[in-house]
Amino acid sequence: MNHSLNIAIDGPAGAGKSTVAKIVAERLSYLYIDTGAMYRTLAYAALTENVDVNDGDALKALLDHVTIELVNDESGLKVLLNGHDISEEIRTIEVSKQVPLVASHELVRVEMVERQRQLAAKGQTVLDGRDIGTHVLPDAKVKVFLTASVEIRAKRRHEELLKKGYSSDLEELKKDIAKRDEIDSTRAFAPLRKASHAIEINTSLLSIDEVVDAIIDLVEDSVLT
Ligand code: CDP
Ligand code: CDP
Repeated sequence: MNHSLNIAIDGPAGAGKSTVAKIVAERLSYLYIDTGAMYRTLAYAALTENVDVNDGDALKALLDHVTIELVNDESGLKVLLNGHDISEEIRTIEVSKQVPLVASHELVRVEMVERQRQLAAKGQTVLDGRDIGTHVLPDAKVKVFLTASVEIRAKRRHEELLKKGYSSDLEELKKDIAKRDEIDSTRAFAPLRKASHAIEINTSLLSIDEVVDAIIDLVEDSVLT
């Protein structure tokens, strides 16, 4: 498809955002930007450098001092911290628990949002996160809000971890997801919200392909209007 729009995909943890965003980007030859990975990388850096996740100034100083890169190559999306591949390390439950605290600081978000807007400036991007449609790219032509019940989201994550050979506790995952949803939805600055014109898709009973097709249809419709 020959056009240059941006696609915003938001929603709570485990709704399927990154899985479908990646495939939609591939199908359209767009750039995929996983904004959650950026916040996860800062949380990981804070944990390894003993920076207090409640201290917004210290986190902003850390963010200014490290380099965070998202690299899309044939093996998928890689996340680099100071040049080191930490794609796996940022997905642990320890990091997941700290990210919403790191991401709640306005100082951190302002800088992250600036970087995300620069990455999306040329168009032809798919961004997934919590505040893409409401705050990062309020003019994005296609906005999608994915949802699914907490039970289904936790089960999907659980199965994904087991498949990768990690141990996983379904009840702990359910609690983590519910807690993150609460912190993300109630923070003062750019909380998790459905943008006013976003199309909501409940993925509970849908396959990945069905969600991808629904989003591609929205893109095709928006190109025609
Ligand atoms: O993949 P999952 O949905 O579990 O999380 P993620 O997209 O990797 O995001 C991890 C955390 O980063 C979220 O729980 C939010 O606290 C934060 N985040 C955010 O605040 N804003 C974004 N645009 C993306 C992520
Ligand atoms: O990025 P987000 O946290 O919203 O979710 P994800 O990491 O893309 O998806 C979580 C898990 O749910 C993955 O293992 C997906 O393969 C799975 N999934 C699914 O089973 N059915 C869907 N319709 C979407 C995702």
